[in-house]
Amino acid sequence: ENISIIGVPMDLGQCRRGVDMGPSAIRYAGVIERLEQLKYDIDDLGDISISRPDRKQREQKNKLRNLPQVAEANEELGKMVDEEIKKQRFPLILGGDHSIAIGSLAGISKHYENLGVIWYDAHGDLNSDKTSPSGNIHGMPLAANLGVGIERLTHILGYSPKIKPENVVIIGARCLDPGEKDYIRDLGIKVYTMHEIDLMGLPKVMAETIDYLEARTDGLHLSLDLDGLDPSEAPGVGTPVIGGLTYRESHLAMEMLAESNLLTSAEFVEVNPILDDKNKTASVAVGLIGSLFGEKLK
Ligand code: ARG
Ligand code: MN
Ligand code: MN
Ligand code: MN
Repeated sequence: ENISIIGVPMDLGQCRRGVDMGPSAIRYAGVIERLEQLKYDIDDLGDISISRPDRKQREQKNKLRNLPQVAEANEELGKMVDEEIKKQRFPLILGGDHSIAIGSLAGISKHYENLGVIWYDAHGDLNSDKTSPSGNIHGMPLAANLGVGIERLTHILGYSPKIKPENVVIIGARCLDPGEKDYIRDLGIKVYTMHEIDLMGLPKVMAETIDYLEARTDGLHLSLDLDGLDPSEAPGVGTPVIGGLTYRESHLAMEMLAESNLLTSAEFVEVNPILDDKNKTASVAVGLIGSLFGEKLK
């Protein structure tokens, strides 16, 4: 099996610098070696280049912070991901803030009729320019992929929507804005908040998620935001929310996904080494990637 690693040093989708160093932090924590041990053929494509806004652009009080640069980087990422899938390689995308999920799915979704998405996150990332409380595009990628928001984000690679609401499962949510809650209710998106996870237990949640998506999708993307985990175990993130998934629950979730054999692409985002405790969060990400790629089975 072949994996292509694409780093996206993006920090323009939110306000805290440092998350652009996420791909380096994850590489430093040993992601390549970990996957090579599992006998994958790894092609590390390095980091895509992100253009920086100049001072004048930065001072512009725009509703969508750094929109031109975020959109441009996502077009580029989309093209690369598309190429790797054409070469029959599994795209593993390393962030960078979560705004990069717009480009990932632009490249992936072309290849599937009904792409399933697991959004493992404390947040819904379902805001649009109209509902966003912050103007930060990392709070909008799931909405953009569902076709909601401004065209510059919804139509990356020239088509929209990328995914259907019934093919999405959000896991770990515990910080949803009012507009996001309305949207989830209106579209009937499947969400396991921390409430359901506490009630049912993570194994049941994952088993239901896998059954649900297996029955209706022809590909499966995991979009894992490290802030889905509890900040005590993954402190290096820009928007931590207390009361999250544990390290052990998250490993089990990855192992269950590995056993399902459904996964066709994945991304790990929001690792910010500047806010971290000795690269702990990047190490957690690498551990999760190991489990996701079958460490337990091989
Ligand atoms: N909901 C908030 C916003 O729209 C926070 C989003 C956090 N997203 C993330 N990918 N960490 O700004
Ligand atoms: Mn989040
Ligand atoms: Mn259209
Ligand atoms: Mn997120």
